[in-house]
Amino acid sequence: MNQKPVCLILGAGAGIGGNVGKKFAKEGYHTVLARRSDEEGLNKIVDDIKKNGGSAVGRLVNAIEDNAIEYLIVDIEKNEGPIEVVLFNLGAQFGDRTLEDTSLKVFELGWRLTSLALFRLAKVMTPIMEARGGGKILVTSATSAMRGNAGQHAHAAAIGGRRMLCQTLNAELSIKGIHICHIYIDAPIEAPDTLGRLLGEELYQKLLDEKSNGKDGMVIPEKVAETFYHIAHQHRSAWTSEVDIRPFSEQPWWNN
Ligand SMILES: NC(=O)c1ccc[n+]([C@@H]2O[C@H](COP(=O)([O-])OP(=O)(O)OC[C@H]3O[C@@H](n4cnc5c(N)ncnc54)[C@H](OP(=O)(O)O)[C@@H]3O)[C@@H](O)[C@H]2O)c1
Repeated sequence: MNQKPVCLILGAGAGIGGNVGKKFAKEGYHTVLARRSDEEGLNKIVDDIKKNGGSAVGRLVNAIEDNAIEYLIVDIEKNEGPIEVVLFNLGAQFGDRTLEDTSLKVFELGWRLTSLALFRLAKVMTPIMEARGGGKILVTSATSAMRGNAGQHAHAAAIGGRRMLCQTLNAELSIKGIHICHIYIDAPIEAPDTLGRLLGEELYQKLLDEKSNGKDGMVIPEKVAETFYHIAHQHRSAWTSEVDIRPFSEQPWWNN
């Protein structure tokens, strides 16, 4: 079995997930990258890590299927090694939908992926971490966790609830050595597999042209990975439980 500490990335696309994986691998972790469907994209991230001397494996898993998260954790603990850090990077962004256009199914899917999945992860992962004396769970989040907005019924309800879940988990588990941090990104990310798909090729390219390519007006996943790594390695006398991240050119949107 691998001898390095394990970092599990749940939601490892080419944006935040893959780049946090690369950072942890660079710093000596064995990285397990899990995502739903894109095997080619997954292999590319794993290969990039290996080419740079890091250690990584990929897993295709749909986190909302029954027992998928539970089996994944048990399998990694058995075959890859003890999980020290989890990045929970799933978030259901459906785009703007009026109340009329938000079906019960969509609302429930948002909750299953964004909120219930973290609860399921915590149920299976934290007793294992506690028995080992500690662990870290980083949760990538979004502006909608802080304030609702028109068209965001499913997303805001699910992700806002998840923020409260992070606080509740921390209140119970920090004393047991488990550090949970809610890291919310208050801006668009250079993330082709999520924002890129949501906007479509043309609109996403327009956004990149306006805000990216040296302008630094979108969050660059490679840069934000440094922050995630730092948070996972804070001294326990100085834990961050929540942090906001946005580019220099943005204001918190609720102040505008
Ligand atoms: N993108 C933005 O502009 C933005 C802005 C603010 C906050 N955020 C937050 O950032 C996080 C995502 O980071 P990112 O946008 O940079 O994306 P990313 O890390 O590039 O990719 C996330 C990956 O999650 C995977 N995923 C989705 N549903 C899944 C499921 N049911 N089971 C397993 N994997 C699943 C997808 O895999 P497949 O591709 O294989 O389906 C996707 O590639 C979310 O928490 C989101 O709320 C994003």
